[in-house]
Amino acid sequence: MTRGPLPWREAWERALYAEAGFFRTSRPAEHFRTNVHMTAFAGAIAELVRSTGARQVVDLAAGGGELLIALDPLVDGVELTGVELAPRPDAVPASIGWQPDLPDHVDGLLIANEWLDNIPCDVVELDGEGVVREVLVDPGTGEETLGEAYDSAWLRDWWPLHEPGDRAEIGETRDAAWTDAVSRVRGTAIAIDYGHTRGDRPPFGSLRSYADGREVDVVPDGSRDVTAHVAVDSVAALTGASLIRQRDALARLGLDGTRPPLELAHSDPGAYLRGLSAAGEAGELMADGGLGDFWWLVTDTLGHGTLAT
Ligand SMILES: C[S@@+](CC[C@H](N)C(=O)[O-])C[C@H]1O[C@@H](n2cnc3c(N)ncnc32)[C@H](O)[C@@H]1O
Repeated sequence: MTRGPLPWREAWERALYAEAGFFRTSRPAEHFRTNVHMTAFAGAIAELVRSTGARQVVDLAAGGGELLIALDPLVDGVELTGVELAPRPDAVPASIGWQPDLPDHVDGLLIANEWLDNIPCDVVELDGEGVVREVLVDPGTGEETLGEAYDSAWLRDWWPLHEPGDRAEIGETRDAAWTDAVSRVRGTAIAIDYGHTRGDRPPFGSLRSYADGREVDVVPDGSRDVTAHVAVDSVAALTGASLIRQRDALARLGLDGTRPPLELAHSDPGAYLRGLSAAGEAGELMADGGLGDFWWLVTDTLGHGTLAT
């Protein structure tokens, strides 16, 4: 383990992606429940695939392959590929491709669920003299110190700081990553993440750590996730994406959290239970204050308009 403080971006990169990093040594599903762990989510994505006529689906940051495994039986004849730094999980069938890098071209749908929030950023803070300084962190303890003055046009444009102690995560790395990904797509590109826009930036930033299903102290030591919400308006401006809340996107794809009628429990108990489970998942995926608040950044290079407002 490196001793001494590092710029946050470097410490974060090592903590998640170095040889002993968090995502190299554990699967996301061991630590948190996301959209892709619900079959209703795959059902909605299958509807999107059908309505846009996509021939290929690339899941960027595929984790344990959960989305692709659930999608496989729902989208006949569509080529499925997981792009993931971690090795192919045993559960992923041979018919699904698995590779560490994005293909040069995606003909259909590129989806990245909870990828951008794990792209490391510089972290800055306004000091008592009104100077923006880079925040440094000790990778072993999480203890922070302020480093050199930090000049950033992105900060001035997208996340100006006002009061001493105000902090920001510099979104340029996310902007660049999604711009590159979208440039490869002929069809629809969707990034899904927690985020904020200029009107509701978190004043002290949103750097967090999670492990084993709960929030823990923020320490970039490789034992836990390090994440920060995405400045989605900046990414959208660069990629020409529409910003849609997940609850609205899923409603447009036919998801409905209404419970099945009670009579069905008598006439067809199996269908009733399936309906109840689907409604429960839809409710969780579309919840206020929960997954429904996710932002979908949608770029539609062919003008399908499936998710258009
Ligand atoms: C929070 S997990 C999300 C996994 C899954 N999409 C989900 O929603 O459960 C982030 C995943 O992104 C992967 N990842 C991060 N950067 C990547 C990159 N440049 N290429 C491929 N995978 C990447 C990590 O290994 C990790 O599995």
